Amino acid sequence: MTTEIFDVAVIGAGPGGYVAAIRCAQLGLNAVCIDEWKNGKGKPSLGGTCLNVGCIPSKALLESSENFHHIQHNASAHGISAEKVSVDVPVMIARKDKIVTTFTMGIASLFKKNKVKSMHGRGTLLKREGEESAWRIKVTHDEQSEIIQAKHVIVATGSTPRPLPFVAIDNDRVLDNAGALALTEVPKRLGVIGAGVIGLEMGSVWRRLGAEVTILEAMPDFLMAADEQIAKEAKSVFTKETGLQINTGIKINSIKLSGQTVIVDYNNSNNEPQILEVDKLIVAVGRVPNTQGLGIEDNELLVDERGFIMVDQFCRTNLKNVYAVGDVVRGPMLAHKASEEGVAVAERIENIEKGYSSEGEAIDFNVIPWVIYTSPEIAWVGKNEQELKAAGIAYKVGQFPFIANGRARAMGETSGFIKVLADEKSDRVLGVHMIGPHVSELISEAVMAMKFSASSQDIACIVHAHPSLSEVFHEAALGVDKRALHI
Ligand code: FAD
Ligand code: NAI
Repeated sequence: MTTEIFDVAVIGAGPGGYVAAIRCAQLGLNAVCIDEWKNGKGKPSLGGTCLNVGCIPSKALLESSENFHHIQHNASAHGISAEKVSVDVPVMIARKDKIVTTFTMGIASLFKKNKVKSMHGRGTLLKREGEESAWRIKVTHDEQSEIIQAKHVIVATGSTPRPLPFVAIDNDRVLDNAGALALTEVPKRLGVIGAGVIGLEMGSVWRRLGAEVTILEAMPDFLMAADEQIAKEAKSVFTKETGLQINTGIKINSIKLSGQTVIVDYNNSNNEPQILEVDKLIVAVGRVPNTQGLGIEDNELLVDERGFIMVDQFCRTNLKNVYAVGDVVRGPMLAHKASEEGVAVAERIENIEKGYSSEGEAIDFNVIPWVIYTSPEIAWVGKNEQELKAAGIAYKVGQFPFIANGRARAMGETSGFIKVLADEKSDRVLGVHMIGPHVSELISEAVMAMKFSASSQDIACIVHAHPSLSEVFHEAALGVDKRALHI
């Protein structure tokens, strides 16, 4: 055991953990970050799910496949002809891998720059010898282990794909997110179990590249987390324009492998037996918190019935000086939520170490944006109409379509709309829902408005550049007071 006692040990170097470690270091805390991720070449790779097999690689492939789709289907409308357009999937995958490597190596540089000690291996929290003693963490790598000590621990061990009982992931024919991001050719027939965020994003990538994509979803309605009107519009565009075959309300009976084919036996929403035969099957039915090998049992670290580490609004666990952030705790499984929690915990530890009395701020989940990077993109923040109705809150609606916006027309991307929901009496913005081009960027203005408790009329008073997509948000805000100008 080393005698050095770190101020903070972070277990996990995903967007929750690596950001927490950097923020700790910025605040003058002596921080170590332990991570066990290895890339396909067996090399340590920082950044967790997000950088290695999540946010960044999926967006790289979405961009590439969208470019291919545009050249094939939209270029001619601009008078541009491109003959014999083809796609070289290994080149596309290599580009994605290069982006991933650049970013994962970038985190190693950030650690170096900020003097965060980086350790590769599995971190296991050892039983504490006494209330006042430092935490000991065993770091195991290739059957070798070392014990380090820290006053505070931040657990940021993330999540893993939820398995389906019917079939094992082999990442050859039955794929999880990692396999779906690494195919070296376009499958002719692709099945996807789960019409959630991964199913829609990955389904879109391979559909645009030419696969016939069938998505099977257990829930009766499509995209139930989204505003109903947005979900309805999305389903219509994804089926009619993108060409995704989406079947909701299904129940899987069995999944079997036969030669090179995957056979899914399921009942459709009318309870009629159906067979889906595909070349590859992506399983994307949610993710589960990852506490494997962390030593939770020895320490009686409390987890809830679904395995999430239990924390309060400040990410404190039941163990003194042990915090948990990101996918391994309650709340949305989003990279920016994980990072925000990491920063908040680092600042809280600084307050404790420096003897400040401040409690720090709890993260407000109501202003965390959601984005689905399909085409058109979907984004929202705050409450949707069904939530406001269920809560009995009276509200006003302003809505504006992209088809009436000059910039969207010039781009040839006219599907979708923006909807602003504001309190009936106070006019305070309660939620903003978007489907359309680049709404992943436009949503930030709505987040800022809500964070600063803006009313719809505050947004209406702001000058928006012309012509720009942001005018759709402006017009939707004007629409709350029935004074949209261009419709
Ligand atoms: P993770 O990123 O999962 O990192 C946890 C790290 O801890 C891993 O490196 C793991 O190996 C390591 N670890 C676990 N246990 C131990 C241990 N005992 N010792 C040492 N190391 C350990 N979110 C978005 O906001 N936007 C997106 O566009 C987006 N796209 C996504 C696309 C896909 C395909 C997937 C799968 C997810 C996507 N997400 C997206 C979700 C996002 O990736 C997660 O919310 C985010 O990575 C969670 O961060 P985290 O730090 O909590 O955990
Ligand atoms: P998800 O929770 O978004 O969707 C899973 C879907 O599978 C749900 O619609 C669910 O009803 C369905 N399902 C569950 N069991 C099923 C079964 N037996 N048969 C058929 N359907 C079934 O989970 P997903 O897509 O796996 O993604 C995990 C998480 O990763 C997301 O919730 C999100 O937090 C994060 N993520 C975020 C992205 C983003 O921000 N753009 C992109 C990708 C993932």
